Amino acid sequence: MTGLDARIPPGFGRDAEGRLLVAGRPAEAWVTDAGDTPLFLYDMALVRQRITAVRAALPAGVRLHYAVKANPMPALLRAIAPLVDGFDVASEGELAAALAAGMPAERVGFAGPGKRDRELEAAIRAGAVLSIESAGEAARALAIARSLGRRARVLLRVNPPFELRGSGMRMGGGARPFGVDAVDAPAVLASMADPAFDVLGLHVFAGSQNLDARAIAEAQAATVALAAALAPHVAGRVRFLNLGGGFGVPYFPADRPLDLAAVGDALRRTLARTPPALAETVFAIELGRYLVAEAGVYLARVVDRKMSAGTLFLVTDGGMHHQLAATGNLGAGVRRNYPIANASRAGGAPEVATVVGCLCTPLDRLAEKVELSATEVGDLIAVFMAGAYGRTASPEAFLGHPPARERLVDGG
Ligand SMILES: Cc1ncc(COP(=O)(O)O)c(C=O)c1O
Repeated sequence: MTGLDARIPPGFGRDAEGRLLVAGRPAEAWVTDAGDTPLFLYDMALVRQRITAVRAALPAGVRLHYAVKANPMPALLRAIAPLVDGFDVASEGELAAALAAGMPAERVGFAGPGKRDRELEAAIRAGAVLSIESAGEAARALAIARSLGRRARVLLRVNPPFELRGSGMRMGGGARPFGVDAVDAPAVLASMADPAFDVLGLHVFAGSQNLDARAIAEAQAATVALAAALAPHVAGRVRFLNLGGGFGVPYFPADRPLDLAAVGDALRRTLARTPPALAETVFAIELGRYLVAEAGVYLARVVDRKMSAGTLFLVTDGGMHHQLAATGNLGAGVRRNYPIANASRAGGAPEVATVVGCLCTPLDRLAEKVELSATEVGDLIAVFMAGAYGRTASPEAFLGHPPARERLVDGG
């Protein structure tokens, strides 16, 4: 695909009539099967390819975890579960989803601030691995484990004194609600040395949506060094170190895809020099969007076509209530267009249009002044990069429109 389709992620195509193919079938056929628009489609073949590529790039023995928050669709979780070594979850609901997808509890990590007692109890009862985020949470989890007569499997999440340089979302360095500051970690680890805790090791997550292999490599090396420095404070050996992830995906024209091989090679070099304190450590990488974002597409139908003050508006039945990120309202400093295309036709004289959703707010813009094939009412519009932080990261109930449908498809 060329021209107007230049930004469409790999794995999608067009048939002879110019209709967008998703997993080898016209988008319109998937909509017919699903019954209506808007519709999210996730191509499992693309997810599998990505997981295979990550596994091939990572050093042998490094575990690959999927961060469920990126996309918790049950069918997707069931399909990913056998392909990865663990799931990372951030709530009791995600814990239940991970277990329902068939991931054994001992391979589920539960991290995130503000875990309520009920959630700590659910994780301890299930036997999941809790990432402890504060001194207070350590004390509450310990009391709950004792009262249940269970040994809780725990990591200490450390807020590193560095950040993942150039991340879309910074999660480490400076004041953060995530984890325990590295300087305070020894004291919290001391409070965790208790028979009711099985302290497996440490967890560091320094940032997200990063396309710079060198920055990721630096953060991984710094994480290994930090873990080695904290190792003497861990009761027993550091058996497990979650190195975080942060692998980014190219949403915008200037974005270059992450050099996965370079990340893997650098991690191989880092682990070849593993400090003696981490000689028995199993390392894990946790990835969300990198595994699923590019495999997803959001389809909405054009309901209206209108001009206002010289701007052509294509008004769709979708919008920010399903795909908030594409409208630039999910943590983006600057609003930029996600890759977008007319899924019903290609060719014809291109026209510049602003594609909006059906919500009564100026925030609801799926694409601003974008070039599309001439579009008619009834055409399908495809917004790409929709496999991560889509439906469940959007204010679905806002304005009372129906929820988007979702289908897992498989291009084989
Ligand atoms: C602790 C933790 N792990 C994993 C992720 C997933 O990040 P991404 O989808 O960018 O890989 C996040 C994102 O915020 C996170 O906070």
